[in-house]
Amino acid sequence: MSVVALIGAQWGDEGKGHLVDLLASKARLVVRYGGGNNAGHTVVNHLGTFKLHLIPSGIFDPSTVNVIGSGVVISPEGLLQELDDLKSRGINTSKLFISERAHVIMPYHIMFDRFQEDARGDDKIGTTGRGIGPAYADKMNRSGIRMADLLHEETLLNRLRSVLEEKNRLLTKLYGAKPLSLHDTYLRYLDFGHKLADHITDTHPIIMRALEKDMPILLEGAQGCLLDVDYGTYPYVTSSPPGAAGACQGAGIGPTRVDSVIGVYKAYTTRVGQGPFPTELADGPDADALRQIGKPWAEVGTTTGRLRRVGWFDAVMARYAAQVNGIDTLAITKLDVLDELANIKICVGYKLHDATLEYPPATTAVLDQVEPVYEEMPGWMSPTSDVRRFQDLPEAAQAYVARICQLVGARLGIISVGPDREQTIIASEVF
Ligand code: GDP
Ligand code: IMO
Ligand code: MG
Repeated sequence: MSVVALIGAQWGDEGKGHLVDLLASKARLVVRYGGGNNAGHTVVNHLGTFKLHLIPSGIFDPSTVNVIGSGVVISPEGLLQELDDLKSRGINTSKLFISERAHVIMPYHIMFDRFQEDARGDDKIGTTGRGIGPAYADKMNRSGIRMADLLHEETLLNRLRSVLEEKNRLLTKLYGAKPLSLHDTYLRYLDFGHKLADHITDTHPIIMRALEKDMPILLEGAQGCLLDVDYGTYPYVTSSPPGAAGACQGAGIGPTRVDSVIGVYKAYTTRVGQGPFPTELADGPDADALRQIGKPWAEVGTTTGRLRRVGWFDAVMARYAAQVNGIDTLAITKLDVLDELANIKICVGYKLHDATLEYPPATTAVLDQVEPVYEEMPGWMSPTSDVRRFQDLPEAAQAYVARICQLVGARLGIISVGPDREQTIIASEVF
């Protein structure tokens, strides 16, 4: 296996960072391919606990090359902060390369993100407020600024001059905000470019060399398939394609070169922000059990600190995500969170009036009306966090995992039973 895409298969926060850190020692190259610092990837290993937003989670293996691909939108300020944090903790970042083609999140993107959310009122999306949507919109509108532009004084000044004129009109006339100064913005972003210059490069030759030499390459997803701008619960989605197609596009690797797509699923479901969530549990003992408040892995957003909404595993959504993305291998995380539950539910279908749906409907209005059809399985009521082999899991846990694989329609690859790199069960080798 040479190229593996590891993608979030629910609404994000499935434990992608944890698994990329685990697999990075086998990969020679890790490419983060999409999203921006809306992502928060937690890595727990022998070096400590780290919260990454833009830097690939393969950074802790000194022999692995890490690339921030062309599909990512970058907050230079956030990235510099992350680099400083890692360096101050003794992590070597010299093998981090940033695509010249990646787009830059500018201050006006962050302002627009917040103004637009305010304007949506009750219909707000619940974005992370990091300027992600406006940055991707500008990229598609061909008015974006790219990382390469930060390295060329004249290009940056010219691009900024033409873009800022329009942005300042919007800021002042539409939102009643203060205009941004061309001079200050230019100097600030030029400085970011100087500080990041050693890392910014054309990443295409790096990726091509790795492909030619058949090196194991891991494509690190951010967000999750149900937040996909085309196939997610639109408009309650992010502004990029976080799935397998996005992996190819954002890394610059053709689909014929990808050997396997690992879908990362929590053993239950969570969501941050607004939008439909058919299996959501309102307050109650089961919801409390899933939230794990007080534990280091509690369901609290890594980036924004918001409480995550929680619910049972939704096999309708899970299978749909697998179908749209060609997921062939499952990684099931946080199985240990279910250790103390006497009964566990899985949603196996949606009822809509008299019909049973096998696929999630395309519109929020209809999705809001579906009733989950549950199947109940017995819990195992014993700790799993020290288990390292599938056959050593309690029988009820084995049965639960097997049922998920059957419903989703993919083979089992990895089970995770704790946040630490070591707390994983490898059911089938990835590379
Ligand atoms: P990501 O965005 O997909 O990388 O996931 P996050 O890091 O945002 O959220 C996952 C959370 O669960 C983090 O706090 C991880 O440390 C933690 N975690 C990951 N895998 C496991 C697991 O198997 N068990 C437990 N208890 N925690 C886990
Ligand atoms: P990781 O990589 C969970 C959600 C936001 C919001 C919606 C749109 O850690 O899994 P945006 O700021 O992207 O415009 O917000 O998407 N969202 C995430 N939820 N994990 C993430 O990333 C997310 N990135 C964005 O909460 O609902
Ligand atoms: Mg996260």
